[in-house]
This record gives sequence, structure tokens and C-alpha cells, in this order.
Amino acid sequence: MTKVAIIGTGPCGLSMLRAFEQAEKKGEKIPEIVCFEKQDDWGGLWNYSWRTGSDQYGDPVPNSMYRYLWSNGPKECLEFADYSFDEHFGKPIPSFPPREALYDYIIGRVKKGKLKNKVKFNTSVSSVVYNGNNFEITCHDKKNDKFLKDVFDYIVVSTGHFSVPFIPEYPGMKSFPGRILHSHDFRDAEEFRGKNVIVLGSSYSAEDVALQCHKYGAKSVTIGYRHNPMGFKWPSGVKEVHYLDRLDGNKAIFKDGHKQDADAIILCSGYLHHFPFLSEDLKLKTRNRLYPPKLYKGVVWQNNHRLFYLGMQDQFHTFNMFDCQAWYARDVIMDKIKLPNSSEIEKDINKWVAMEEKLENPDQMIDFQTEYTKELHELSDYPKIDFELIRKHFKEWEHHKVEDIMTYRNKSFSSPVTGSVGPIHHTPWATAMDDSLKTFLDQSKK
Ligand SMILES: Cc1cc2nc3c(=O)[nH]c(=O)nc-3n(C[C@H](O)[C@H](O)[C@H](O)COP(=O)(O)OP(=O)(O)OC[C@H]3O[C@@H](n4cnc5c(N)ncnc54)[C@H](O)[C@@H]3O)c2cc1C
Ligand SMILES: NC(=O)c1ccc[n+]([C@@H]2O[C@H](COP(=O)([O-])OP(=O)(O)OC[C@H]3O[C@@H](n4cnc5c(N)ncnc54)[C@H](OP(=O)(O)O)[C@@H]3O)[C@@H](O)[C@H]2O)c1
Repeated sequence: MTKVAIIGTGPCGLSMLRAFEQAEKKGEKIPEIVCFEKQDDWGGLWNYSWRTGSDQYGDPVPNSMYRYLWSNGPKECLEFADYSFDEHFGKPIPSFPPREALYDYIIGRVKKGKLKNKVKFNTSVSSVVYNGNNFEITCHDKKNDKFLKDVFDYIVVSTGHFSVPFIPEYPGMKSFPGRILHSHDFRDAEEFRGKNVIVLGSSYSAEDVALQCHKYGAKSVTIGYRHNPMGFKWPSGVKEVHYLDRLDGNKAIFKDGHKQDADAIILCSGYLHHFPFLSEDLKLKTRNRLYPPKLYKGVVWQNNHRLFYLGMQDQFHTFNMFDCQAWYARDVIMDKIKLPNSSEIEKDINKWVAMEEKLENPDQMIDFQTEYTKELHELSDYPKIDFELIRKHFKEWEHHKVEDIMTYRNKSFSSPVTGSVGPIHHTPWATAMDDSLKTFLDQSKK
């Protein structure tokens, strides 16, 4: 029987499990599946707990999640086509849920079946080698401290790419008397109450970490961008200046001459695609981009068509794009989709990469990833979902952010699956300090 290894049970690994489950429900004979997860539960970075940091076996916990994190895009844009928010919560919920609500939703789709039996928890894959015939996997069963080996016909890598921080060094860091950390290690904005915080970067982590620190009482927040400023209308107490030049004692000195006393530096300088367990010939090497090269349809490893990567793109679309990728990978594995010859594969990859390299603004990037996801969607039986509405929502959301970065999470959107419109949340995001699922769902507070 064909054997498939899935590495990681974050949203991508769970999409893969779900794809096979759905085929089996339709009476199709599915391969044998073994899923490896280095943490003690599934959910990937959404499985946040006090353990985030390092586990009881001395292994780093890869999650870059933090307390008080709310979805930074409308939930309608990531909704599963086969499991709506209405179905999960039994009623429409607001468009920007906190982490716990999204975690509950992701897990709700997979926990009813028997999928958990397929997962080896606390088991870290330490090596994958292709021997010309099949893949040899070595994994570490951390509970019993045993290294185990097994052989597979197909590998699905779904280990995420936002867990290994990229940490640059700036002059003066060695003698800086305050705290320096990467957003990967940012756990709780309360820690920075009353402090002068420097945030370096100009993408989603920089934006959200800066706003979190402001929301939970930082004395000042200074964002240093490298190439382009985010340029939002920041609330008073937050400013954006050009790039850190150096630290002099506790003073941060920026390229534009701006000087700021600093208690903490938070590097929001992004993450590395890091696959230490894969042999060199199987390893994806890329920066964070919308179309990493060498992946046919963004999924199939060009040099070995029995290796799949899920979710390796920079992401506007997330959960339903991961589903489209997983449904596609499933159908290749189950031989329902035949891959073209290598020159056509090369041509297709080059076409997407060339288009990606010409993108100039967020609207074009949204269009690009929507077109990519739509194309994949058409190749499998992943249920109907209105990607045109999702495209429209993303663009509207971008414009809401430009209008007011403090209020964009108070808006509501309609579902591409059920059509229902998210109610306005009882508390505006800027004053919603309690991010628990219970409080979020309690619309009587309105
Ligand atoms: C701080 C932060 C906030 C985010 N917020 C949002 C948001 O609001 N909305 C949104 O749509 N997206 C958000 N994202 C994007 C996020 O990438 C996706 O939502 C999603 O979690 C990606 O799923 P994944 O399965 O690819 O990776 P992950 O969720 O990272 O899961 C990977 C899994 O692989 C496991 N693993 C890794 N290595 C091994 C190994 N060697 N052996 C066994 N198991 C292994 C890990 O333990 C983990 O469980 C956010 C990302 C970050 C970093
Ligand atoms: N739900 C939420 O609210 C939330 C919060 C945080 C993160 N996230 C998610 O997390 C994921 C990762 O986002 P991210 O912002 O961490 O990574 P990212 O989008 O890859 O951005 C990396 C940033 O690092 C900067 N950078 C790289 N090298 C640098 C250097 N040497 N010095 C200074 N800056 C440098 C880049 O600047 P240049 O542009 O100048 O190269 C860029 O701004 C995204 O999917 C995002 O949606 C979500």
C-alpha cells in the first residue's frame, strides 16, 4: 500500500489530513498516512500555551504566537469551503476573531473524525532522505527518547515558515542595557507597559507588535522601517522613522537623525524557511515571497514529484488556499491528477515567478494570489467558494487599514461560503483587552 508521511499538523497538515478524509468518505481507497508532530497537540502556531518557547523535552516550541493576537485579516477570507464559521459556532460571529476563536474553528473541523489517530505527537522528524526509490524518515519519539526509522512513498512538508526567526545585528546591540528580542519571542505586550519600545521592520509583525505595545500601555513606540514605511496614520504615541543606524547606550539613533531613548528593541525582521531535516536535494530555499521557485503549482517539488510543500508562500490567502493545495497534492498522490512533462512544469513555474516579480502594490499581490488559488481550486473537487468575493474583501480590508489602522478590525464582511454577514463586535478592537473566546462570543455585552 502507498504510504504518505505528513510532517507538521498546523493548518496545512490538517488540510492534508482533511483532504484524505473527504476522499475516503466518498468511498475512495486512500493511502496509509502517518503524520508527525513535534508538539504535544495539533493546531500549529495557533496551539498557543504557556509552553510556547521550549517543551518539557528541551526542544524549542516553534510557535511565534502571542497573547492578545487577533486575526489581522477578515475571517471570511480564510474560511473553509467545507466547514463554515456559521456551522462551527452555530451563529454568525464578528469578522476579526481573536486567536482562541480561530484555533477552535481550525480544530473543530478535524476533531470529529478519527484523524487524531494518524498523528504521532511529541515526534520530531530529524531526517528525510530519498534513496532513489522511496523516502527514509528518521524521527525522534521525544517521550520515550527513541529514534525511529520508517520508509514512505510520498512526503508532505507542512512545517510552516514563520517559526525560525531571522535576527540581524545592529551596531551597539552588544552594549545595549535593555531587552532585545525577535517578534518570534514576543509573548505578551503587557511586559512593555510604561516602556519606550523600538520596533524594527515594516510588515505585519512590525505593525501588530507596535499596535499591541501601544494598546497595552507602552510609553512610546518607534518603528524603524528599512525600505518603505508602512505609512499608516499611527495613533499618538506611535511613530515611524527611517531605519536604525546604531544604538548608543540606551539611545536608538536612526538613519534620518531621529534619536529615541529605548528600553526594548523588538526585531520584526521576518523568518527563515528552515528545513534542517531535509537532505539538500529536497530542500526548498527561498525568501518569503508569493511564488517560491521550484514548486509546481506552488506545491510539487520540481526535482522530485513525490515531495510536496504546503503553505510555503507569503500569505494573503491562508486556510482555504492551504486546502486547495492539499486537495491538489492528494489528487496527485492518488493519481487522479497527472503531472505534465518537465519542460511544461518548468515553463509553468517560470510564468508564475515572472508575474510575481512584476508586482508593485498590495492590490496586485492580492490579485496574483487569488488567481493562483483559483487555478488550483479548479483542479480538484474542493467545494465551491466565492474567491471573487474574497478578492474584493481583501482589497476593501487593505483600504480600511489605510483609512484607520486602529479601527479596521471593527469592520464586518460577508461569508464566501454561506453569505451571512459578520455582526459588529461588542467592543472595538482598541479597547477589547480580554481576548478570550467566551468574551468574544458574548454578544449580550453589546
Ligand atoms: C504571529 C503570527 C500571526 C499570524 N496571524 C495570522 C492571522 O491572523 N491570520 C492568518 O490567516 N494567518 C496568520 N498567520 C500565518 C500563519 O502562517 C498561518 O495562519 C498558519 O499557521 C500556517 O500554517 P502551517 O501549517 O503552514 O504552519 P504552522 O502553523 O507553523 O504549523 C507547522 C507545524 O509543524 C510542526 N513541525 C515543525 N517542524 C517539525 C518537525 N521537524 N517534525 C514534526 N513537526 C514539525 C510544528 O510543531 C507545527 O505544529 C500568522 C503567523 C504568525 C507568525
Ligand atoms: N494576526 C496578526 O495580527 C499577525 C501579527 C503578526 C504577524 N502575522 C503574520 O505573520 C507572518 C509573518 O509576518 P512578518 O512581518 O513577521 O514577516 P514578513 O512579512 O516576512 O516581513 C519581514 C520584515 O522584516 C524586515 N526585515 C528583513 N530584514 C531586515 C533587516 N536586516 N533589518 C530590518 N528589517 C528587516 C522586512 O523589511 P523590508 O520590507 O525592508 O525588506 C519586512 O518588513 C505574516 O503572515 C503575518 O500575517 C499576523
